[in-house]
Amino acid sequence: DEAEYQHVFDAAVAADERIEPRDWMPDAYRATLVRQIAQHAHSEIIGMQPEANWITRAPSLRRKAILMAKVQDEAGHGLYLYSAAETLGTSRDELLDKLHSGRQKYSSIFNYPTLTWADVGAIGWLVDGAAITNQVPLCRCSYGPYARAMVRVCKEESFHQRQGYELLLALSRGTPEQHAMAQDAVDRWWWPSLMMFGPPDDESQHSAQSMAWKIKRHSNDELRQRFVDICVPQAESLGLTLPDPDLRWNEERGKYDFGTIDWTEFWEVLKGNGPCNEQRLTQRRRAHDEGAWVREAAAAHAAKHSGGTEA
Ligand code: 3HC
Repeated sequence: DEAEYQHVFDAAVAADERIEPRDWMPDAYRATLVRQIAQHAHSEIIGMQPEANWITRAPSLRRKAILMAKVQDEAGHGLYLYSAAETLGTSRDELLDKLHSGRQKYSSIFNYPTLTWADVGAIGWLVDGAAITNQVPLCRCSYGPYARAMVRVCKEESFHQRQGYELLLALSRGTPEQHAMAQDAVDRWWWPSLMMFGPPDDESQHSAQSMAWKIKRHSNDELRQRFVDICVPQAESLGLTLPDPDLRWNEERGKYDFGTIDWTEFWEVLKGNGPCNEQRLTQRRRAHDEGAWVREAAAAHAAKHSGGTEA
């Protein structure tokens, strides 16, 4: 009976065992995983737009090839994650419908514009850096398919972060104009990158339950702090400054203190009032409509060959 199943589930989570698609799980566990995995997938897909903006204008063939590879990786991450979500009994069509109609979210970070080539470096270094800080613990998430998808994603994310860092280093050591362009990009992407980790712990609606289920292994503020501590020395070696006058090493904490985040901006962006929200969703809906013929053709092909007999 239900109580027995609940007991088996609780014991498995407590023992750090993986919950697999065919295992019994509380409806709320299933629902929060669909919510988080779907929004993670949506973030990967929408995240292709800001960077794709620069593929045709990359300054060299090498940079163009790297950026194309990265954008293709993001698409792949989206597909892994939609597949992980489908193991929970939902369909990709349903999830995309919710994205297109604003009933599901994607990461706030992608509602900011990529104004110069240096933004491609800042996104790689900061946005993919933050994503790695968030995704490494997710490799130990209690839900098997999500945790396994994260292992592959994290490997590719490290390349994304390194190429961004290297791009910024080249600019920072370049002409004064190139240095200024790199500094301007870091100034615009730093605070929105900190917002990627979610609201402060005391305003996080899901953290307590997600941590009890070992979906979330560290709180939003813990991972945000970890990210700041990683970035400060990296900014120094880049020869760039982080736009936070309150940033300073705190000896007894053994961590960096940093300034206050503008949470009004965060909640405004989540409400749809960020610089690029409208543009991102319009572009996404257009891409979905223009791609309908591919989905129809693939479905027709699959149906023709589903009888198992090669026609
Ligand atoms: N952007 C948009 N929505 C956000 C957000 C952000 N940065 N941070 C929090 N939220 C939303 C949550 O989704 C939740 O709303 P919902 O109930 O409608 O889903 C609400 O704000 C309250 O936040 P909580 O902290 O209570 O929510 P979570 O426990 O889900 O924590 C999270 C938020 C840390 C983002 C968690 O969902 C998570 O770890 N998700 C997986 C990682 C992810 O989505 N990363 C996207 C980064 S971009 C990326 O990976 C692409 C890379 O390749 C560049």
